[in-house]
Amino acid sequence: MTAPDALISAALDVRLNAFAPFSKFLVGAALEDNDGRVHTGCNVENATYGLTLCAERVAIFKAISEGVKPRTFRRIAIAADTDTLTPPCGACRQILWEFCGNIELVLVNLAGKTETYNLKELFPKPFDVSYL
Ligand code: THU
Repeated sequence: MTAPDALISAALDVRLNAFAPFSKFLVGAALEDNDGRVHTGCNVENATYGLTLCAERVAIFKAISEGVKPRTFRRIAIAADTDTLTPPCGACRQILWEFCGNIELVLVNLAGKTETYNLKELFPKPFDVSYL
């Protein structure tokens, strides 16, 4: 397993790649798969605003596009510059659930403050393919 600090560092590092000229709110995510590989993502904004992709979804979609199978992830670190640690948005919680299940989330800020949750705590009654 990737050392917790390494996953957090990866999220903090990739945050600096965020393309966020509109919000100026930079976010980084580092997603660890079951083989210990780390897949990173940052938020990428767009002039229409609504087409923005959050850091978490970029990390997940990058990993899937590289051939990592859904539900084979164990942790994600999410880094932002807020005193109250930034949790994933509702859309990302849905995508996290569908691709990662009840994954461990490590929220972190630039001061190194961390909080750890599992997704079920933040997204207690998810809709997914089991209802279809
Ligand atoms: N954002 C993320 O990338 N992840 C989060 O967990 C919260 C929000 C981005 C989307 C947008 O580019 C900016 O932060 C402000 O909402």
